[in-house]
Amino acid sequence: MISPAIGRYEATLAGLRRKSRLRALMPQQGIDFTSNDYLGLACAPRLAAAISAAIEEGVPAGAGGSRLLRGNHWVHEALEAEAAAFFGAERVLYFGSGFAANVALFSTLPQRDDLIVHDALIHASVRDGISSSKAAAAVVPHGDVEAFEAAIRHWRAAGGKGSPWIAVESLYSMDGDRGPLPALAEIAARHGGFLVVDEAHATGVFGRGGRGLASGLESCGNVLTLHTCGKALGVSGALLGLPAVLADYMVNRARSFIYSTAPSPLMAAGVREALRMMEDEPERRSRLDAMLAFAGEEFRSKLGITPSGSQIQPVMIGDNARALRIAQRMQDDGFDIRAIRPPTVPDGTARLRISITLNVDEGQITAMTERLAAAIEEERP
Ligand SMILES: Cc1ncc(COP(=O)(O)O)c(C=O)c1O
Repeated sequence: MISPAIGRYEATLAGLRRKSRLRALMPQQGIDFTSNDYLGLACAPRLAAAISAAIEEGVPAGAGGSRLLRGNHWVHEALEAEAAAFFGAERVLYFGSGFAANVALFSTLPQRDDLIVHDALIHASVRDGISSSKAAAAVVPHGDVEAFEAAIRHWRAAGGKGSPWIAVESLYSMDGDRGPLPALAEIAARHGGFLVVDEAHATGVFGRGGRGLASGLESCGNVLTLHTCGKALGVSGALLGLPAVLADYMVNRARSFIYSTAPSPLMAAGVREALRMMEDEPERRSRLDAMLAFAGEEFRSKLGITPSGSQIQPVMIGDNARALRIAQRMQDDGFDIRAIRPPTVPDGTARLRISITLNVDEGQITAMTERLAAAIEEERP
């Protein structure tokens, strides 16, 4: 017999359906205009070969324990050392996912008398970390440098004694625009605080040799960076770059690092190879750059929208149901484009999030923009 308590969940789902906010899993199909596999590495033969070679050498699929116990494999340590050298960070810790890394960081490092100031569009994983933190938190309007500083001044004036933490993304995941990093690094330094830069969508694509948009700031001593490995790097997990003392503190205090099985050593082997590919295959970034310039012109001419300047292009629709219907039309015609709705984005800003990757060619970009212009017309309110 089904428990009567199930009814509450059914009612919530029915409410989501009424507001066109219900989600369901769907298979991968159609031309990829939605993944974060920006450099086309996820299926790259060189990455697969590196993982096969690691299997041949006896690297296990499972770590078998947490990092502080038997799960600390030499491949994790090799990856962390190589990543620290690559990104110019004093130390790097490898986590099973970017979500876990953000939760660990924000729930562990900011202390009770600290303040976390974050951008209004910051990722859900940062918000979840902040909600488990003992520090005070303040949200500021998207990209507003002065508002970050004003929030810190206000907190100090009210007796705030600890350190401020500024949390931003370097390339915003749903808008494709950039955070004002140098100005924020300067504010963090001036107020004796830290800047945390989530590089999830910039790693591999932007910055010197794909090192992200905070590249060069890592050595400042007060800048922490998060490089996720499941997007442009094509594998999974996340590399958190930070000062050595803070890394040691995380190893002692970050609950999701301590009380969790270490990431698969095979995935760590894959990430090591992906970092080598960043250095050996710069042509991937040049090809993506050329593709972005081409796509930008197509977005402008076929859809009348201003290109975001990155591989993430939002096409604003507003209404949830209409965004869903347009996405469905695109999927029916073989283009994998998804509608992004609240709460992932603010109310009234439902959109199509188009990503440009090396998994498509120019002809497919042209065909997609032409079909999208027509689909938007067909669904005119
Ligand atoms: C900005 C940002 N941070 C963190 C994450 C989480 O990373 P992961 O997918 O490795 O858990 C994502 C992924 O969606 C993201 O977009």
